[in-house]
Amino acid sequence: MPKEYVYKLNFPSDVLLPDAMDKISSSRVHHSIHDAKDIFKPECLNWMGLKWETVYYFSKRAGQVGQIHSDCYSDDDSFECGINWVFGGDGSMEYWTEEELIHPEYELEKVLNLPVRKYEVPSSPSKHSYHMPEGVYLINGVAPHRGIGISGVRHVISLRSPDVRNKTWEEVVEMFKDYIVEM
Ligand SMILES: [Fe+2]
Repeated sequence: MPKEYVYKLNFPSDVLLPDAMDKISSSRVHHSIHDAKDIFKPECLNWMGLKWETVYYFSKRAGQVGQIHSDCYSDDDSFECGINWVFGGDGSMEYWTEEELIHPEYELEKVLNLPVRKYEVPSSPSKHSYHMPEGVYLINGVAPHRGIGISGVRHVISLRSPDVRNKTWEEVVEMFKDYIVEM
């Protein structure tokens, strides 16, 4: 297992179609799902030779703390990760290991209408906290995590690929290694 759950990427920030934010904000919700081709420029839909098909959008206000969950939309063990563009505000992500948490509960995710694994808040603070100011990040979506807003309104556009589901985190980090920069 690579030692981190989040890696900063030297990826361009100018990747969205001109009307992407209008499409996203017209839904007036803090969490939405979109076709990647409606949001990203065509040249972004094949990063690293993978098909990037889906965009998850979420926003957090200053002080807003998300629920601990795994982006694991079924009870199988398929892997999930994302390339996250963060802009408009400051925030962080916290991670735990499965062993540090107890009794995952499946809840129906409102936007995706799929079961997602959610966890109670543990008594132990996260040992893996990542400050994520505006920038681009490779994030592990399977390890339990939550997002936190620190200041302003933090918008996250997370690009997802079905092609990562049969890969491991090690393999994905290896694929992106030439783009990883020190955090
Ligand atoms: Fe997540």
